[in-house]
Amino acid sequence: MSTCCYKDSSKPVEKRIKDLIGRMTVEEKLGQLNQIYRGSDNPLPAEFAIQVRNGEIGSFIWGYAQPELRNQMQRVAVEESRLGIPLIFGMDIIHGARTIFPIAPAMAGAFEPELLERAQAVAAKEARAQGLEWVFAPMCDLARDARWGRVAETCGEDPYLSALCNAAQVRGFQGDDPGSGEHLAACLKHYVGYSSPRGGRDYSDTEITEWTLRNAHLPSFHAAINAGALTVMSSFNAIGGIPAVSNRHTLTEILREEWKFKGFVVSDWNAVIEAVSWGYAKDHAEAARLAICAGNDMDMLSTSYYRTLAKQIEDGTVPMAVVDEAVRRVLRVKFQVGLFDRPYVDAAAYESAILRPEYLALARESVVKSTVLLKNEGVLPLSRKIRKIALIGPFGDDQTEMLGCWQGNGEPKDVVTLASGLKDKFGSKISLAVVKGCSVSTEPRMKMLQDGSTVIDDSVPMDNAEIMLKEAESAAKNADVVIMAVGEPKGITGEGGSRATLTLTGRQQELFDAVARCGRPVVTIVFSGRTLTLTEVFDKSAAVLFAWQPGIQAGNGLADLISGDAAPSARLSMSVPYEVGQVPLYYNHYVTGRRSGGVYRDGVPTAARFWFGYGLTYTKFEYSDIKIVSGKKGKPAEAVAAISNKGRRKGVETVQLYIRQLACNEGARPMQELRGFKRVALKPGESAEVRFPLTSEVLGYVDRKGKTRVDKGDFHVWIAHHARSGEPLVYSHK
Ligand code: BGC
Repeated sequence: MSTCCYKDSSKPVEKRIKDLIGRMTVEEKLGQLNQIYRGSDNPLPAEFAIQVRNGEIGSFIWGYAQPELRNQMQRVAVEESRLGIPLIFGMDIIHGARTIFPIAPAMAGAFEPELLERAQAVAAKEARAQGLEWVFAPMCDLARDARWGRVAETCGEDPYLSALCNAAQVRGFQGDDPGSGEHLAACLKHYVGYSSPRGGRDYSDTEITEWTLRNAHLPSFHAAINAGALTVMSSFNAIGGIPAVSNRHTLTEILREEWKFKGFVVSDWNAVIEAVSWGYAKDHAEAARLAICAGNDMDMLSTSYYRTLAKQIEDGTVPMAVVDEAVRRVLRVKFQVGLFDRPYVDAAAYESAILRPEYLALARESVVKSTVLLKNEGVLPLSRKIRKIALIGPFGDDQTEMLGCWQGNGEPKDVVTLASGLKDKFGSKISLAVVKGCSVSTEPRMKMLQDGSTVIDDSVPMDNAEIMLKEAESAAKNADVVIMAVGEPKGITGEGGSRATLTLTGRQQELFDAVARCGRPVVTIVFSGRTLTLTEVFDKSAAVLFAWQPGIQAGNGLADLISGDAAPSARLSMSVPYEVGQVPLYYNHYVTGRRSGGVYRDGVPTAARFWFGYGLTYTKFEYSDIKIVSGKKGKPAEAVAAISNKGRRKGVETVQLYIRQLACNEGARPMQELRGFKRVALKPGESAEVRFPLTSEVLGYVDRKGKTRVDKGDFHVWIAHHARSGEPLVYSHK
């Protein structure tokens, strides 16, 4: 036995881990790799305490904020189990813990990664206060297919923007010291390829070549690993028939050997034994062996590691060294988040740690910076002459819907709806009629049961659709301007939220058409977890704001924009299709040998309705003097442009740099790739010069062996407003 004691905080962590592993039985080791769902019972089921006391559980997926209960369970682990190893508590804190922010694709559209960093630092503080040391975020997948509900958790379709935003989220969650008590461990998910399911069907299989994996799916994970992420979650999908949870190439060769990742990998929910459903493993024991040997360290929920690995170690089919290494990784993170030295949380401090005024101010700023203005015929910001507003639509005054696809500990009562935000903003100066008009779904009485199935709740009276529609029409006719709050319900976004259509749900389109016919200018606010095909809405509205799922400060942030107290500056992090048949649709596709003429045979364009990077402001920016300036004294050449505010209001322009390598023998490169951006704030009449050095990082790609390369040769370079604007310059890289 080593002389170093793992309980001695003055000793180096690696020595403490070695000492501890030396004292553990095989069962105790497997316990550390076993993560259990804590359930929703209050108090906790008694069998959990027995298992924790026996060292059979290393971690809980914890629901809800119940710090006392959490401490109670921790006390059993620390004070009653043989070695006193603390439990690690993890939960899905995705876009906020109690202070709920806009969802990730909205936040990414701010083109300001620091905004995500600040928001996740708030989430980390609130999550720590409830007794979590670990969050299952950020999501590094790509949003290439709007049918897939989980686009609502991504940072959009672009690998470069996503990489910056996810690295920023890791910094926000983890800070400089994840053990500081205000920060915690992040978990990058879902590793990897989960976001390319067939037909947009969640959990489906994927076919991803090494080239696409390296240049589209991996960069965001790699950047977040380089930012110091302590854990990674393997994904549900199989790539080319190999489930991600048992994929040695991605989990060990890339993650550990190439990227030198030192933290641990947790499976997704029950995913270890899903290798059996895939037809990859014959039973639970084989599934456990394949997963742990591939590099998946912790088993979320399936318990197959705990139940089957001891025997396989004894038989010699699973090397003890593999299990020891997995345990070492888990313990290392437990040390890094400070659990051995401070296992408990101050339950009495929880209430004062949440929803602080500065957190709410940041949530409001986030709504302002992440809502995209897609159309404006001059109606926004609203004129001071307006006296009567009709706010129509099922999202106008619904607190629950604003929380989005994950809500952490967020509560509807915290939400400022658009109706209350507008009332607060305009007070008695404007008369505001708030009319629901219809429900978000065709069967508004549908309620979800705990097992995920839905039933009709007969205790709720049926909507009288005709009466609701008439109310909406009469409110519209009586108003100077109509604000329509429409979209898709949060319940069909996020996990399992795949859709085969991308339209408004329920009777909302009928409502919109009826209101639009009333002849008043319509400002439409779209609430959604994904981009939608809203051709009629885009065409008939005088202005459209795409608000995503904006969180608890929804109404205040939107009222700031509508009134003109703030101006929109966000851009789309996902391209908007005309029709669902176009997806997967993303700007950075390849250029093919044959052109289609730009339209499908049934008349639908092949282009997006709005491309990635698109978004308007309340002023007008002009780009001029776009040029390449060659580098002097060994410095890289630069792409340069002058940006001028030619409008009458101040505003922020997000200037974007795109490149295309015209010939790459390693493999064709996409039509355009975002490789830089700058937010430029200008008053009317002001100009600024933006410069983008054309460094190896800007021009390079990753080859099939994982090496970053830059080729000599010609590149197209754009400095542009969005992915399909502007003309390219030619730059010859020597
Ligand atoms: C999801 C993950 C999540 C996990 C734990 C899974 O079903 O795919 O994103 O972190 O559950 O809640």
